[in-house]
Amino acid sequence: MKTSIWIVDFGSQYTQLITRKFRELGFSSIIMTVEDALEKIAKESPEALVLSGGPQSVFEDTTDYSPFFSNNKLPILGICYGMQILGQFFGGKVEKGVQGEYGLAKLKIVSNQKIPGLPNESDVWMSHSDHVSKLPNGFKLIFQSENGLTAGITHEVKPILGLQFHPEVHHTVHGKDILSYFLNEIAHLKSNWSSKTMLETSLEEVKAIKGSKVLCAFSGGVDSLVAATLTQKIIGDDLYCFFVDHGLLRPQDIHHIKLLQEKTSLKIEIVNVEEQFLKALHGHKDPESKRKIIGKTFIDVFEQKVLEFEKNHNIKFEYLLQGTLYPDVIESISPHKKGGKSVTIKSHHNVGGLPERMNLKLLEPLRFLFKDEVRAMGLELGLKHNWVFRHPFPGPGIGVRVLGELSRDSIRKVQESDQILFEELNANHLYDSTWQAFTVLLPVKTVGVKGDGRAYEEVIAVRMVNSQDGMTASITEVPWSFLNKVSSRICNEVKGITRVVYDCTSKPPGTIEWE
Ligand code: XMP
Repeated sequence: MKTSIWIVDFGSQYTQLITRKFRELGFSSIIMTVEDALEKIAKESPEALVLSGGPQSVFEDTTDYSPFFSNNKLPILGICYGMQILGQFFGGKVEKGVQGEYGLAKLKIVSNQKIPGLPNESDVWMSHSDHVSKLPNGFKLIFQSENGLTAGITHEVKPILGLQFHPEVHHTVHGKDILSYFLNEIAHLKSNWSSKTMLETSLEEVKAIKGSKVLCAFSGGVDSLVAATLTQKIIGDDLYCFFVDHGLLRPQDIHHIKLLQEKTSLKIEIVNVEEQFLKALHGHKDPESKRKIIGKTFIDVFEQKVLEFEKNHNIKFEYLLQGTLYPDVIESISPHKKGGKSVTIKSHHNVGGLPERMNLKLLEPLRFLFKDEVRAMGLELGLKHNWVFRHPFPGPGIGVRVLGELSRDSIRKVQESDQILFEELNANHLYDSTWQAFTVLLPVKTVGVKGDGRAYEEVIAVRMVNSQDGMTASITEVPWSFLNKVSSRICNEVKGITRVVYDCTSKPPGTIEWE
């Protein structure tokens, strides 16, 4: 991707949003670590630099940031911590805050600077404790907070803007006006990002490897479907998709794959390895052990099947196609995540170990995109709306939706109850209004009455959540009549279930999946 706005990531939780907002304004940008940016800036001369917010304090930071400020013509936007860095560098004073400013605050324009679209007073999102208490040399004050603190500064001659608040956060009502002011009127950049450039960039990526055989661990989810469709457009029959049926799928998943086999020109090989998974999982109750076994078995069987396929067809795969998205790329470069001591909540199952093991190079044509952009691209590629807007389904599938040990009968209970939920969501036009909806089998028995007899059977939990990215989630509010219908159908139609409960836990503290 040709882009030369660098967003230097000081570890703010909002850094991704700067890229998002820039794209909405028609500009591409890349996120870089501080170390990378400091090392490369002299050689690669970006068109503009954004110094993001971060959790540090300038009082503890001894890094020499002078390479960022050596070119007087380089447009720079400092946000929160970024503004404090430039404030200190240019001879201003940063003071430790007594109270700090967190959350919504009022921003006042205190100069005659005209910013298109921005009223004299507006709501902004603040999240800082230190602040710039004396203006740096050559700067003028343009914004103040309602507490009288410095909220925005600009250089008298150089193209530099410093903001103590976060213009990238949705709650900053005129954030886009301010970012647009920086890009267009301070930096004078040319817009370069649109859905057309997005598609072209991804296609370029694939064109570069034309002639090679490409392997795809295909799940049928939106990311792998869009990545495969895009790749197939360029390399045609050199793309081979393998779908692993581990027996932990819902009826809708099998149906979906068969439909894709029939309706698209993708070559999809279904590998049925149900027995291997059930055998490997036998006797295991612990959620982490189950996740690890599913992940390892997946890689083992996938490698074995591909090697057999290569032998039988006398071909050699060179690339592994993956639907990696930009948030995963950012996550892997974030200073706090990379090598950091973050606690493992769940071992997510993916095919991360495959490329080295099978000596494959990676092809990741979606790695600059966010989920909604991938969906837009999917539609542009002619994929059906309901394929592109499918709910996420975890790699370990029903394996983490039967709590405790798995058996054929427990898998059946989740498959049948999930199918009922799916049918009712569609019948009531509720599928698109929730991020994810599924059923979970709880390994407890409760007493009930069926017909005239006593029943002592298991419980199904229905979980429906709304989310932007799966990182946080809130429960979906659904009509009682809908829950009533789903519950009644599950108790009547799924053998061995007498009770249905609705999970009303947000994330955090709950996670979306139960295991
Ligand atoms: P949690 O349960 O961590 O889930 O709150 C967040 C989102 O991730 C999905 N999920 C997975 N996706 N492999 C995946 O591809 C996994 O191992 C996995 N575990 C959870 C989950 O369905 C939700 O959308």
